[in-house]
Amino acid sequence: MKCRVCSKNIESIMSFGSMPIANGFLSLDKFKNEYFFELNTAFCMNCKMFQLVDQPDPKMMFHDSYAFFSSTSRKMEEYFKNVAEHFMNNYLRNTENAFVIEIGCNDGIMLKHISNRGIKHLGIEPSSNVAEVAKQNGVNAITSFFNEETAAYILESNNHADIIFAANVMCHIPDIHSVARSVNLLLKENGIFVFEDPYLGDVLQKTSYDQIYDEHVYLFSVHSITNAFGLNNLEVFHVEPQLTHGGSMRYYLCRRGSKDINISVTKQLKKEKELGLDKFQTFQKFKLNCEQNKNDLIKLLNKLKEDGKRVVGYAATSKSTTILNYCGIDSSLIEYISDTTPIKYGKFTPGSHIPVKSYEEFKKDKPDYAVLFAWNHSNEIFEKECDFLKNGGNWIVFVPEVKILNKETYS
Ligand code: SAH
Ligand code: TMP
Ligand code: ZN
Repeated sequence: MKCRVCSKNIESIMSFGSMPIANGFLSLDKFKNEYFFELNTAFCMNCKMFQLVDQPDPKMMFHDSYAFFSSTSRKMEEYFKNVAEHFMNNYLRNTENAFVIEIGCNDGIMLKHISNRGIKHLGIEPSSNVAEVAKQNGVNAITSFFNEETAAYILESNNHADIIFAANVMCHIPDIHSVARSVNLLLKENGIFVFEDPYLGDVLQKTSYDQIYDEHVYLFSVHSITNAFGLNNLEVFHVEPQLTHGGSMRYYLCRRGSKDINISVTKQLKKEKELGLDKFQTFQKFKLNCEQNKNDLIKLLNKLKEDGKRVVGYAATSKSTTILNYCGIDSSLIEYISDTTPIKYGKFTPGSHIPVKSYEEFKKDKPDYAVLFAWNHSNEIFEKECDFLKNGGNWIVFVPEVKILNKETYS
């Protein structure tokens, strides 16, 4: 097995077994032809990249009925508004010549704010259904995967970019060197490439193994990003931890030597060494933690079933696909999962085939327990669902460990 980034031999960490497409919510008639692949993870001791050994063809994951719409979370709406404000206040003062590119703009959650301010921008989004919503939100977007061909096409009718932004998508793209070459093509001499993704350090510390699924071909650290982009003359000049998606890191890159390196970079590299993000033993410990977490969750769900309790799921996230399939949980343990995304209603969860119902059904229902699959949005959800606890409902959370929250134990 060779590293996707540096081509050196990689060390196998663990297998999560056979997995379907994480966002591949499906109707009953599609069960028999459902696609599965082996979800195996590995670590490169040379460039420190955590990676999937195999990833399905991107066209199987990103298409005209992609099930994830960024704007389903109110807090994420606010968050991306702030990202846009941050760019406009700090990097886009001269709006006349400014140009912002976003890779994986989804429904336009960030770019619509840039657009509202009349700043030239372009979103690159291969999933045409979400790109369509971006366009309805006044965003200029092209339905395409970001690569060198797309970069060349953009340059035919645009100037170079001040900012290239990418949230929760860089870790989806297997060919990092192609991205880096495309960024090199598109960026102004002094431009910046800013991206953020779930952070390897948080995943290991919280045993949030549900961040590992087909789309996330990498889990990044400052070490791995420095190495990967260093091969392409791009340099990390600043990093900022974020609270989103259960703990993310935002990386600011520039052409090598074009900016001063902020102290945040050396600080985070030092912290990563303390966390052991550069050592294989850390991942062996992670494997044991995942197995423990799985056993605890299965044990709890079986016990509740024995006791005749009604258990449902809250939010049919892509992350839940890893939990459900790795733990072998089906509708005998979780009756249904409610979600606010209309495209998922009436369908079934990938692989585990649990029915997905609308949020309204959950509101009407009075289940005893709800497994919180969107734990990364827990602040927003607990705020919204305070009645569930008040009325005697119990949350089951599994990050960082399996436990029950009810009106006695929730503070
Ligand atoms: N940026 C948004 C969306 C993240 S989901 C947010 O943070 O909420 C990832 C998005 O990236 C999806 O909309 C997917 O269609 C898109 N995507 C996947 N591969 C891509 C690629 N190679 N180039 C551009 N976009 C891609
Ligand atoms: P994410 O964890 O990848 O951001 O996905 C969030 C999913 O959770 C998405 O399918 C929408 C759903 N969701 C709810 O059902 N209710 C909520 O209150 C929130 C915030 C999200
Ligand atoms: Zn490597």
